[in-house]
Amino acid sequence: MCGIVGCVLKHKKAAPILLDCISKLEYRGYDSIGIATEDSKINIKKDKGKIIEVNTSLDLADMEGQSGIAHVRWATHGDPNKINSHPHTDENKTVAVVHNGIIENYLEIKEQLISEGHNFKSDTDTEVIPHLLEKFIKEGLDLEGAMKKTISIIQGAYAIAAICKNEPNKVIATRKDSPLIVGVGKDEYFVASDSPAILKYAKDIIYPERGEIVILEMNGVTIKDINGNIIEKEIETIDWTPEMAEKEGYDYFMLKEINEQDIAIRNTLTEKNNIKKIIDEVKCAINRIMFVACGTSYHASLTGKYLIESLAGIPTDVVLASEFKYSANTLNDKTLVIFISQSGETADTLKALDIANKTSKTLAIVNVAGSSATRRADYVIHTQAGPEIGVAATKTYVSQLTAIYLFAGLLSENDDLLTKLKKVPDYIKEMIKDPSNIITMSKKYKYADDFFYIGRGFSYPIALEGALKLKEITYVHGEGYAAGELKHGPLALIDEGIPVVVVLPPGENHKKTMSNLEEVKSRGADVISIGSMDDKPLIDKSDDIFLINSEIDDIIAPITYIVPLQLLSYYMAIERGCDPDKPKNLAKCVTVE
Ligand code: AGP
Repeated sequence: MCGIVGCVLKHKKAAPILLDCISKLEYRGYDSIGIATEDSKINIKKDKGKIIEVNTSLDLADMEGQSGIAHVRWATHGDPNKINSHPHTDENKTVAVVHNGIIENYLEIKEQLISEGHNFKSDTDTEVIPHLLEKFIKEGLDLEGAMKKTISIIQGAYAIAAICKNEPNKVIATRKDSPLIVGVGKDEYFVASDSPAILKYAKDIIYPERGEIVILEMNGVTIKDINGNIIEKEIETIDWTPEMAEKEGYDYFMLKEINEQDIAIRNTLTEKNNIKKIIDEVKCAINRIMFVACGTSYHASLTGKYLIESLAGIPTDVVLASEFKYSANTLNDKTLVIFISQSGETADTLKALDIANKTSKTLAIVNVAGSSATRRADYVIHTQAGPEIGVAATKTYVSQLTAIYLFAGLLSENDDLLTKLKKVPDYIKEMIKDPSNIITMSKKYKYADDFFYIGRGFSYPIALEGALKLKEITYVHGEGYAAGELKHGPLALIDEGIPVVVVLPPGENHKKTMSNLEEVKSRGADVISIGSMDDKPLIDKSDDIFLINSEIDDIIAPITYIVPLQLLSYYMAIERGCDPDKPKNLAKCVTVE
């Protein structure tokens, strides 16, 4: 949560570039925005609200200085208001600091600092950092030394960037358990929480490890270990273009990303050889697989379980990363633990990965190259979705599924599945061509308070993911159930006019799910179905239906049938006046446990 940027620019003023960079990180937090620059004094502008709301009032024109830091906030400690917005300073404005993460021991540090005479203004955990930095600078350290001493005191997760009025054109940054990358451009140097922030300015990226200190200056970047030794770091060039992080004519990133799903799948299919190599290495050494993930990535994992167990016969569990510790003691060296994460920075997932690394082989399926998960797992599959900016996962979800289908197909040597998979991009292209039917449905159902989603077998994760998409961006209550589970409780909630989305592809479960459809229909539900064009009985029984190519069977449905459900949520969000890219209370990357 939260996004940070820092820069030192040889030939330009920092403030407008910081604003441009930080605007690309708004998916990480949009409670407030703030910028600080240094020109022998610290200049700060910050306010509560999204950038679009506060941009004009910030008036950056008079902000001098060629170095600075910026922040977008997703509040953890203290309300979203101007005082709690970053950057934070000490009372003398010697330093300014932006921070992503949580300082767990901030209360005891704060008490100590108050007893020493420091005055605090905000309710944030972050504010202890500038006060500690100032204290150590007063004791004679420079900003770099003060940062080293500060990180020996603070506990928790952090990526921090700081500037000091006594040290011109310098940004000092560091990280532990929150993401931070370094961008090396031509006469301009950056740190940022994620690459979309700096794609326009720097393509050469360095990934600092936990505890390393990054020093940006006019003449370049230095990275030191905690003992002050300079480290030679590998520079990787990213192939994402700045346009990938722009809306390119779409109203919202989410719609753009839904429309990019065919390409995302095509690109991820190129991982086939890498996946084959991984399977050749691990296949004989494992007798069990465990998927670990959160949210949408958890739903992709659930599909993985169904595929691997039914096709390869390997017992496969799926565990929520935040609940992982209760299963961890069942792992051994014959378990392959697969971590799925779009960002590769989700705190719950990383915590679980560190634990699993002690006993088992680990594989990370990740979209963001160079992210923490890619550096900690034994094996990595990169989904090739490109940057996903909308908070709701869409193209990264189908890319995760593509990687999982490849994995399961190659593991079980099931050529039929791999052939079906190749056709998916074309099916999706066909499905997104004309959303008029979905738009009509979104107008009809926009006032509903509750939605139910049901599916059986491979369609059960589709129901869960459809419901998650609905609640996160429309704020309408949506619940996904295994169709067979309805009669064990939830059926009591079905009443006249309640929308029930029935995910019903052709396949072996068809008859049984049809019976479940009848159960809800006879209790007055409005049945919205996703099914095959040839499915006459389903067409007859549905109040509304989205028809799909009849070649798509239930096994390939998770990666295709989800598309109309993403679109339904998107258009309902628009109808209800919600911003689908920035849902309330949520952020794209959850770097706190
Ligand atoms: C889904 O739309 C959400 N963005 C959320 O559930 C997400 O999938 C979850 O937070 C996990 O994120 P990750 O894939 O980056 O680990």
